Amino acid sequence: MSSPIRSPEGVWWDHPLRGQEKTWLGIVGVTMVVLFGWMVGWMYAGDQNPVGPTYRVTAQRFREKLTAYKDSARQSDQGLVPSGRDVYIAGFQWAWDGLPVVLEAGKEYRLHLGSYDVQHGFGVRSDAELWKQINLQVVPGYEWVLPFEFEEPGEYHVICNEFCGVGHRIMNNRITVVAGGSSDGD
Ligand code: CUA
Repeated sequence: MSSPIRSPEGVWWDHPLRGQEKTWLGIVGVTMVVLFGWMVGWMYAGDQNPVGPTYRVTAQRFREKLTAYKDSARQSDQGLVPSGRDVYIAGFQWAWDGLPVVLEAGKEYRLHLGSYDVQHGFGVRSDAELWKQINLQVVPGYEWVLPFEFEEPGEYHVICNEFCGVGHRIMNNRITVVAGGSSDGD
């Protein structure tokens, strides 16, 4: 069987580069290096990438810690109100354990992120400003402890941003952020 596509004539793969080709390849090369440097630069200059320690943990142990946290939290109409600065959230197929939660704006929490089964993506975005969002990978077998603070009160969507099976698209919940001091009912 012969191909309907005709081969180019002669030694087409071995021509020297012409001026314009060299210029464009140069522009692409420089852009790539700049973007790569930018990625590393934002880590320090932009304060963009959350940094915190991770600990090895079994799903069962993380579930126990999360249950103890929930027992110590107060239940409100809008969700759990943590008693201290520690907040536990776990992804599993296909929901979030520990959500919904009510947090205070301007208060730094320690977010303990984990998974009971497979890899999930913890995406948080403001209801009012959808472009303001963060995405964190949730990896089974690890507890990731992150400093976590909301600047503005409001409703925040939590969605799963890593494909994790047939129920991936229903894996959403919310975080309600209230003005500092107003969630203290105790
Ligand atoms: Cu969990 Cu997608």
